[in-house]
Amino acid sequence: MDWDKIDRFTKSLIKEAGHKIRNSFFERIQIESKSNVNDLVTNIDQEIEQFFIQNIQFAFPDHRVLGEEGYGDQVTTLNGVVWIIDPIDGTMNFVHQKRNFAISIGVYEDGVGMLGYIYDVVRDELYAAKNGAGAYLNDERLPRLSDGSIEEAVIGVNARWFNAKRYVNGGKLLNLVADCRGTRSYGSAALEIAYVASGKLDAYISGRLSPWDVAGGVVIAQEVGAITTNFKGTTLNFVQPDSLIVSRPSLHAFILQNYIEVNA
Ligand code: IPD
Ligand code: CA
Ligand code: CA
Repeated sequence: MDWDKIDRFTKSLIKEAGHKIRNSFFERIQIESKSNVNDLVTNIDQEIEQFFIQNIQFAFPDHRVLGEEGYGDQVTTLNGVVWIIDPIDGTMNFVHQKRNFAISIGVYEDGVGMLGYIYDVVRDELYAAKNGAGAYLNDERLPRLSDGSIEEAVIGVNARWFNAKRYVNGGKLLNLVADCRGTRSYGSAALEIAYVASGKLDAYISGRLSPWDVAGGVVIAQEVGAITTNFKGTTLNFVQPDSLIVSRPSLHAFILQNYIEVNA
């Protein structure tokens, strides 16, 4: 497999998709809800996913694609080469703010993350990684993450997870809020993982994410030495929804042991 060629191909598709999304700011877009009234999808999410899938299928007919909006394949295993795509991660931000959203793509071979991309369309910032070759923000190589303390940590977490009725113990998570330096919630899991990989956040925590929210980010995070698991401390399988904690190396076990308790 010529991963350098696939990397160049993907970057060029991502840049073209970014143009399309920025152009959509000047059009009237159609907004609908999916699983609930706050779960938004637009015609742009759908068109961008179709743009990626058509191009990938044409160039690599034996690869499979798992896309959020359902235009790809039914993927239940990661055998062979599988592309995992979120055309717009942070659709609510796309609709309400026209910023703070990203294209997220992970390319896996037999379950191993080979390529990862998170493209902040409005800032024109591309986070990209190739397995074993490091991670970059545009042309700049991202340094490996050092350890850090909880007292100095800025942590990405959504306030929804503090609700005691959810499956994670909200009270314990509130202790994390009290102990860390500060919390942030950007509304795009992909961007928040990219922020951990590039040192803007020290950890990011979410109780439930889909494969396309995390697949690109995990490849980037691993290349800088971030630790990525679910709340049970086990690796993600990228075909089912799961919780996520991604952080600087030393913080991971500390947060997991002291602040995360999964309700029975
Ligand atoms: C959502 C965003 C958000 C996260 C949600 C995701 P979408 O993705 O990543 O930050 O909290 O769980 O569903 O729907 O905008 O692609
Ligand atoms: Ca998403
Ligand atoms: Ca999406």
